[in-house]
Amino acid sequence: MNSWSLSDIEVVSRAIVSAPSVHDTQPWDLRLDGTCAQISERRGFTDTPRADRVISCGAGVTNVELALRALGRQIETDLLPDPRRPELVATVRTVGTASPSSTDLRLFSAMARRRSHREAFADIPVPAATVADIVDAAEMEGVCARLLAADEAPALADVLLYSADRVRQDPGHQRDLFPWTSHWLPQGGHESFDTIRTVVTRGVPDSARLAAAIESETVLVFASDTQESIDLVRTGIAVERAWLTAVDARLGASVLSHPLRVDDSAPRLANRLNLPGNPQLILRIGY
Ligand SMILES: Cc1cc2nc3c(=O)[nH]c(=O)nc-3n(C[C@H](O)[C@H](O)[C@H](O)COP(=O)(O)O)c2cc1C
Repeated sequence: MNSWSLSDIEVVSRAIVSAPSVHDTQPWDLRLDGTCAQISERRGFTDTPRADRVISCGAGVTNVELALRALGRQIETDLLPDPRRPELVATVRTVGTASPSSTDLRLFSAMARRRSHREAFADIPVPAATVADIVDAAEMEGVCARLLAADEAPALADVLLYSADRVRQDPGHQRDLFPWTSHWLPQGGHESFDTIRTVVTRGVPDSARLAAAIESETVLVFASDTQESIDLVRTGIAVERAWLTAVDARLGASVLSHPLRVDDSAPRLANRLNLPGNPQLILRIGY
């Protein structure tokens, strides 16, 4: 029995395609079967870190769930449901009908407006209540989403600069397609790339300037309890929920994982911030 109309298929596939993914690789397959949506990790993107691919699939799961709820379906999700098929990230089953909540509808509509804002934000503070909503939206077993305190900005700046330095010293390191410094300091201090992805400018901001820029923004650090797939999928789910909640509040956002994939940058950040678990991703939000 196939219970998917053509318009259902259109809505659900558009939803997953609009999820954020590492280097926009969209490393998932979506299969609509009977009453189930199955999201699997597409293998073969070996030049992107596996953690980022699995986190991307988790973001896709959030969008599929929201689309199904918006279509009036009551759903149940099983993450990594089949140990014999580790690539099967999630099964989202329709178990009945239900009116979508207003939050589901708002986040569903935010999907089409979400995009990476890799530039500085306006100098307008995000209201504490909005920040609290975003942090609440990211609440998820196996994941810690921590708001960076103002006095922690120097620690993040140091780790970002450490990571940039390691990349610079070792030509074997994969360089970021989207240089991270531009997220905070679009007016300078960023590297640019020619078509064969060689660095052509090499400025990096000093630590104090970068820390000041970070401090002026709202930044969340996402850490997973473990490096297991299950916690990476949950991280992706949490990040996308938080990001859509920010978009719904008319905020922009961008994420960074690349600097945390360089050598021991992630444990360094965990250590500096006293974070439990494994830092996976940084989400910056602002107007
Ligand atoms: C797991 C993950 C890691 C990402 N890492 C970075 C990053 O390090 N730097 C960056 O600029 N964007 C990063 N992104 C954002 C993607 O590049 C972006 O979502 C994708 O290019 C699609 O563009 P959009 O977000 O505007 O739709 C990441 C996204 C995901 C899901």
